[in-house]
Amino acid sequence: MGGGRLGRRDEIAQNSILGDDPLGHRSKMPGANRGWQWMTELIYGEATAEDAANLAALSTQVWLHTYATAGVRNAFSNYVLSEFTAEKLSTDIAEKNRRLFIKCEKSQHLVGYLRLDFESPSPSDPKVKTEIATLYVQEHHTRQGVGRGLLEQATLACRTRNVPDFWLSVNHENHNAIRFYDRLGFKRDGSMYFELDGEKHENFILRRSTNQPASSRMIRKATTADRPRISEIRNAVRENKLSPGSVSTVADTALWIYDNGTFWVWEEDGAVQGFAVADTRDGTIFGLFVHPDHEGRGIARALLPLACGDLKRAGFTFATLNTGPGTRAERFYRADGWTDTGRRDADGEIIFEKAL
Ligand SMILES: CC(C)(COP(=O)(O)OP(=O)(O)OC[C@H]1O[C@@H](n2cnc3c(N)ncnc32)[C@H](O)[C@@H]1OP(=O)(O)O)[C@@H](O)C(=O)NCCC(=O)NCCS
Repeated sequence: MGGGRLGRRDEIAQNSILGDDPLGHRSKMPGANRGWQWMTELIYGEATAEDAANLAALSTQVWLHTYATAGVRNAFSNYVLSEFTAEKLSTDIAEKNRRLFIKCEKSQHLVGYLRLDFESPSPSDPKVKTEIATLYVQEHHTRQGVGRGLLEQATLACRTRNVPDFWLSVNHENHNAIRFYDRLGFKRDGSMYFELDGEKHENFILRRSTNQPASSRMIRKATTADRPRISEIRNAVRENKLSPGSVSTVADTALWIYDNGTFWVWEEDGAVQGFAVADTRDGTIFGLFVHPDHEGRGIARALLPLACGDLKRAGFTFATLNTGPGTRAERFYRADGWTDTGRRDADGEIIFEKAL
């Protein structure tokens, strides 16, 4: 796509389900602004073969930083250079039935990832078959919630697959990781040994249920498991309700986006509370909704740039949307720098545009 306007304006208007939305200024919750700041930056998603080289480089860096604390020797170099190759990782990524790689990016840079192996029984209890085989956060980005966010993504993925528990092993001297897992509710379940260069290293085996309630907030890409909740939020709004005439068009567009695009969702305490979504066929923001119980906390303000980013990546130089006049959504978009370009003929909704 060349960039610029695609799609006629009447088509754009018909497809939009833009709705009810709060401004983020009126934060009623302590710490909400801090949460908003880091959440706008951390994006979680499934890693693909295109990420393999970055995963290999990050793994090498984190592994050496964690374990080669006395310096580098041949055994370490041989291990990382043979274990963490883009080729090996892309082969592993391709085995989707057996593994899942979840990445975390910040400003389009990889900052951490987690690997789940679904066919790796715990030596302490073979009934527990799913292992968190890797969880690496680049040192510059530790203690910022990346590890917690990756674990919560993994928990969600396991629940979707009806996996009740997962396990992992951690070097008994890796005190930072042990404290981290302890903080996140993992319990000791025996030991196993990792051999390198003829030396045996004790690893603690830890395990946790995947039903443990999540307790943080994050922005992530929706999975198919989120569909009912996304519909619930769409139908719960007080303004910009869906008109009966537009239900089927909106449903068709939503289906297309589920298959081809991205619903960005805000998850909090294990439940999705808002979403933003762009239609990359016509340059519109197709929806931006926050559950009424969570309005006024900056959720829309945090989500909208991600949907706009999708449009920019698809080649658009500006985004379009429409919304009902006199709504909080109108005030939100004006405050967010959107330009009022006129009214939609059919129902007088305001058509807004913003440069990307
Ligand atoms: C262990 C590791 C994954 C933690 O990731 P992280 O992004 O720094 O962790 P988070 O910021 O998400 O921390 C989540 C919670 O754990 C706590 N935590 C994290 N590291 C901690 C530490 N070193 N000591 C005490 N608590 C710690 C945090 O305070 C936070 O709790 P809070 O939200 O209640 O404040 C990361 O340090 C890492 O990649 N280390 C090197 C590789 C490694 O050892 N991986 C594990 C191999 S099994």
